[in-house]
Amino acid sequence: MARIIAVAVPKGGAGKTSTTLNLGAALAARGQRVLLIDFDPQGNLSLSLRATPVSPSLYSTIREFITTWEPHIERVIVPSSIPNVDVVPTDVWLNESDEELRSADRREYVLRKLLEPVSPAYDFVLIDTLPYFGMLVKNALVAADELIIPMQAEFLATQSIEMMLKLVERIQRSGLNPLLRVLGVLVTQVDLRTNMGRQAEGYARTEFLGRVPIFTTAVKRTVRMAESQAMGQSLLQYDPDGEAAAAYRTLAEEVLNAA
Ligand SMILES: Nc1ncnc2c1ncn2[C@@H]1O[C@H](COP(=O)(O)OP(=O)(O)OP(=O)(O)O)[C@@H](O)[C@H]1O
Ligand SMILES: [Mg+2]
Repeated sequence: MARIIAVAVPKGGAGKTSTTLNLGAALAARGQRVLLIDFDPQGNLSLSLRATPVSPSLYSTIREFITTWEPHIERVIVPSSIPNVDVVPTDVWLNESDEELRSADRREYVLRKLLEPVSPAYDFVLIDTLPYFGMLVKNALVAADELIIPMQAEFLATQSIEMMLKLVERIQRSGLNPLLRVLGVLVTQVDLRTNMGRQAEGYARTEFLGRVPIFTTAVKRTVRMAESQAMGQSLLQYDPDGEAAAAYRTLAEEVLNAA
């Protein structure tokens, strides 16, 4: 079975989508078969991969599933431009699922059930999420075995990590997903040009020391990130010799070693 990893934190711009895409690309470069799920109606992951939603869409697949309970997510999986990486693209219609899921039976388990038949074909399933705690994020956290929490290297970001950890505790204690494991907090967008940027990484590491694993790898801020997304490529394709691509390769090592 695949290791299913959700990438989540209730803060916009933390680096969830960039991490899902580039960690996926780095794992694939190590020969892993990877499925990326764009579970954010903003559709940034799909856009970054130039993957347009197919018909039927993820939204209609969820809608049909909650009445029939016949899982057919395979219909919405498409190959990406990255070898070994498939993707389930989405668009703004997925917002409707958040509402519709509320009245579904076993409403937190829908994504988990949908993934069951396809996950044996992959080594990793990475789920990109939106920065708001609703049914979509809950579904991602119930479907996942593990969680990566990206954190922008700035002082305001620690509050969102606290909120995320509280939600994880709730998901575990309620029995929705007792085995959900926080793989680690990933410090992203470290700006070494400013004192604030340099201090923020150290501050985050001491703030959460002993409470939650923090990846040794940190990702520095680089203009190459936005450029690669504009070009529809992963950083490993667009700037393979850059520091950020190297960071995602080391992160992939950490993830592989944490099995
Ligand atoms: N290491 C980095 N260096 C420079 N820019 C980055 C880096 N990581 C992410 N960014 C940029 O920061 C912005 C937010 O990143 P990203 O979209 O990954 O965050 P997110 O958590 O998915 O946001 P949202 O909550 O809106 O989904 C994007 O424009 C992205 O290009
Ligand atoms: Mg995003």
